Amino acid sequence: MAGIFISFEGIDGAGKSTHIERLARCFAAQGRAVTLSREPGGTDLAERLRSMLLNDPMDPITEALLAFAARRDHLTQVIVPALQRGEVVLCDRFTDATFAYQGGGRGVDWDMLQTLERWVQSAGPLVQPDLTLWFDLPTSVAAGRLLGARVPDKFESQPEAFFDAVSQGYARRCAEGAGRFARIDADQAADRVWDGVLDAVRRRGFLT
Ligand code: TMP
Repeated sequence: MAGIFISFEGIDGAGKSTHIERLARCFAAQGRAVTLSREPGGTDLAERLRSMLLNDPMDPITEALLAFAARRDHLTQVIVPALQRGEVVLCDRFTDATFAYQGGGRGVDWDMLQTLERWVQSAGPLVQPDLTLWFDLPTSVAAGRLLGARVPDKFESQPEAFFDAVSQGYARRCAEGAGRFARIDADQAADRVWDGVLDAVRRRGFLT
């Protein structure tokens, strides 16, 4: 596919959002069409599934299935068509979040998630991001940033131990897919974090 697919990952409070928008402006300034999206979400159906996943009590496997159902719709309706048009797709979270949150945080079997990943992302070759920017920071720092930010959803209101397990899930995914990942130290001033983002994107030749 002609486009570029970049995902943004990290525990809640890691501070991805401003960098996603800034990177979108950089690509647009170089004349690239950019599709900005998020998971769970990105289509009407996936946004409805997101609302259930973030608000309704359910068991961890149901969470994983809803996340992958939303992903399938998002991939077929938005991501794959945009990549085929040659666009840059910037996605706030993707499959690594399911491994981190449902696998690491909730304890869903890793092999089961890998099977779901293959089913859901193989409409042709396995669709994976070309680059995943993992905003890594200590859970205590992230918890401090989240304090009073807004009414917390089901995940944001979890204790720090949950986010420690989520971080371990991200670390495992990073080790398993090392070439695709760039770990960004998110426990720095925003401008330094941005330097890390730009460096990772430039090193792969996606921006000049
Ligand atoms: P966010 O868009 O504010 O990051 O919120 C999405 C929340 O959903 C976040 O807490 C992570 C969680 N999540 C999962 O639990 N599983 C998933 O597969 C994805 C994509 C997100």
